[in-house]
Amino acid sequence: MSSLDFSTKIGSKRFSNPIFTASGCASSGQELSQFFPLTEIGAIVTKSIMTKARTGRATPRMAETPSGMLNSIGLQGPGIDAFLENDIPWLVSNSAKIIVSIAGETVDEYGVLARRLRAVPGISAVEVNISCPNVENRGQVFACHPDTAIAVIESVRRNIGGELPIIAKLSPDVTNIVEIAQSVINAGVDGLALINTLLGMVIDTNTMKPKLAGKTGGLSGPAIRPVAVRAIYQVHQAFPNTPIVGMGGVASGRDAFELVLAGASAVSIGTATFGNPTAVLQIRDQLSELLLEKGITDFRDAIGFAHRGV
Ligand code: SIN
Repeated sequence: MSSLDFSTKIGSKRFSNPIFTASGCASSGQELSQFFPLTEIGAIVTKSIMTKARTGRATPRMAETPSGMLNSIGLQGPGIDAFLENDIPWLVSNSAKIIVSIAGETVDEYGVLARRLRAVPGISAVEVNISCPNVENRGQVFACHPDTAIAVIESVRRNIGGELPIIAKLSPDVTNIVEIAQSVINAGVDGLALINTLLGMVIDTNTMKPKLAGKTGGLSGPAIRPVAVRAIYQVHQAFPNTPIVGMGGVASGRDAFELVLAGASAVSIGTATFGNPTAVLQIRDQLSELLLEKGITDFRDAIGFAHRGV
């Protein structure tokens, strides 16, 4: 039987397989490590960390939707000091490949976080989550405007130093995601994470009020997969040399394959993990079987395959 080269690259970093966790769905991996060694997955992408500890939004913060889930966690987290003191050493001691996700309320906050991470050993990349409201500019989401997206990435690039790849996580809630991708590529990112959740809302018809305390929330799960496939396809078509970490409603190896065919160099698993903590491993194994079934022995040959001859 043929063997598969399942490795993938984001910027200068190589990952043994292309299946990652999605930021926010597995914290820093402690819970998942009860089910399997974290070395089994390509990388763990940590929950977006901010400068200060945050308790997040009031509850309820999650609501089920048809084929999906709405969340409004409010970036709950321990803050960068405790994260560097506890989470990173724990991940390093478990030999995990680490992608640290960062989030800020101001351009400067992103720069501060990048500076704190620059000399930390054991990190493979930084995911810059720009789907956050800019408190200095009427709450406009950084990822929804080329200028603010550029300002954040330039600040991270200036402060991160060295060769640590920067991955910008984009929001699908824009008219033209290719334009935003172009802006952050020009500002110096090494890769893109596509897509974050879509903004949605659920109203409880019994109470006649919004179900989430924060009123709106991010929609994830199988319902958004076609949006992810479309965004990845469009961005890969425009920038075939920029690696994409794809995510959005992937619940099987076949779903992951779809994102890879659209142009993803790696696939992150989020919502599926809530129902099945070993989903990441199952998806990894199903994807590798599917690739071999198709006669593909080098994972990288599948990336963007759907574009060929179209
Ligand atoms: C949250 O913590 O509210 C989610 C953040 C995100 O979707 O980027």
